[in-house]
Amino acid sequence: MISKKNKADVLLGLQWGDEGKGKIVDVLTPEYNVVARFQGGPNAGHTLEFDNKKYILHTIPSGIFHADNVNLIGNGVVIDPMIFNKELISINLPLKTIKNRLLISRKAHLIIPSHKLLDAALEHSKGESKIGSTLKGIGPAYTDKIARSGLRLGNLLQSDFREQYAILTESHLHKARALGFDTDTVKLDGLTFNEYEKKWFEGAEILKQFPMVDSELFVNNALNDGLKFLAEGAQGSLLDIDFGSYPFVTSSNTIAAGACTGLGLAPSSIGKVYGIFKAYCTRVGSGPFPTELFDENGHILRKEGNEFGSTTGRPRRCGWLDLPALRYSVMINGVTSLIMTKVDVLNGFDEFNACIAYIYKGGEIDYIPFEYDSEEIKPVYKTFKGWKASLEKFEKYDELPQTLLDYIKYIEDFTGVKVSILSTGPDRSETIMK
Ligand code: GDP
Ligand code: IMO
Ligand code: MG
Repeated sequence: MISKKNKADVLLGLQWGDEGKGKIVDVLTPEYNVVARFQGGPNAGHTLEFDNKKYILHTIPSGIFHADNVNLIGNGVVIDPMIFNKELISINLPLKTIKNRLLISRKAHLIIPSHKLLDAALEHSKGESKIGSTLKGIGPAYTDKIARSGLRLGNLLQSDFREQYAILTESHLHKARALGFDTDTVKLDGLTFNEYEKKWFEGAEILKQFPMVDSELFVNNALNDGLKFLAEGAQGSLLDIDFGSYPFVTSSNTIAAGACTGLGLAPSSIGKVYGIFKAYCTRVGSGPFPTELFDENGHILRKEGNEFGSTTGRPRRCGWLDLPALRYSVMINGVTSLIMTKVDVLNGFDEFNACIAYIYKGGEIDYIPFEYDSEEIKPVYKTFKGWKASLEKFEKYDELPQTLLDYIKYIEDFTGVKVSILSTGPDRSETIMK
């Protein structure tokens, strides 16, 4: 008899990142056996709050705090051993426990210190038009992957790793100097290059102790064995290298297709696609953001939503929900179920807006044009009535204030997908299932 293979569910961000992926993955983890990251690296900052504690994960999947789960870092992820090691310490679990719960693909690429240096050099050379990168070395590491010159986790175990490392480092230093960048005085996360490199190799020794797997074999065996699998996206669809607001994007495929290439998952093995979005919009770094607010409302969203980057601490740009952009993300990912977060941040508004179309070159359009530039595009807004109430006492979806239910219904009709989960606060417990 042919056994029935399970499908893997995917959860990913539909905006410019920071939609609350970490919190929701942690909430959903008890329904799954395996949680896996498939792309991005330490540019991600996924926040989890429970038992009055707060954790920020960068490389480690957000299922790590559940004793019965396996977590996997897939081949599509880029890993900085120095940051990985810091993260291991920050999550405050015994190293032995983490080793029992975490597997890493030997095909995942390494971010080496000179990738970070090159990231800084490239941003510096761009001047005013810089991307606003997190400067974690993401772009240069993926560049090396595509250029077929990168180093992978499995290379760490080879006897000539130091030589491979030295050759790659030298080529990065050469490029950075050619950009006129001072490579002698550069600081990486506040450390000199040599100090960073020393900590990087210490981290690499720890990383080598983790079980290395071929994620494509692990994933498919797990599905064949009937295990339940959740793939956790990083960043958001509007930061996708192909479909985001290029060039103001990250360097990986953040969309559902990225779960296939970043884990070794066949497209036919994808089950549900959870698309997560905030009740408004935020963005860190540069790039178009048509609904960005520069007025008091923007300040309120930033203050109430505590909109400061989990990875860099930078204030996040805030604005109203952009529905044409959301619908685009729903389409590109084949979203089957929506998750709406940070609904509580709108509690104090008498009324608020959502963008339902754009004015572009004198006409109205309801899609994202190639020249997705905020100077050119003016949002068309629809105003919604607020609920002016705390959502703390609500546990059941149907009992929520009618004006909030009306807002959700409008979003569902606009995107064609139902909302299945609402998040009304940062804690695990502040979650309403429909
Ligand atoms: P991620 O990158 O998608 O995991 O999101 P981040 O962790 O970078 O940013 C989301 C922030 O909002 C974190 O500080 C979370 O603790 C917080 N958060 C998540 N869900 C909610 C919510 O429903 N309401 C509020 N007020 N905060 C939330
Ligand atoms: P999570 O997973 C928000 C943004 C950066 C910058 C651009 C490129 O927490 O949602 P990079 O470091 O990748 O070269 O930066 O992408 N960015 C994020 N913004 N959340 C993230 O991750 C992000 N990761 C990268 O701010 O604009
Ligand atoms: Mg984040």
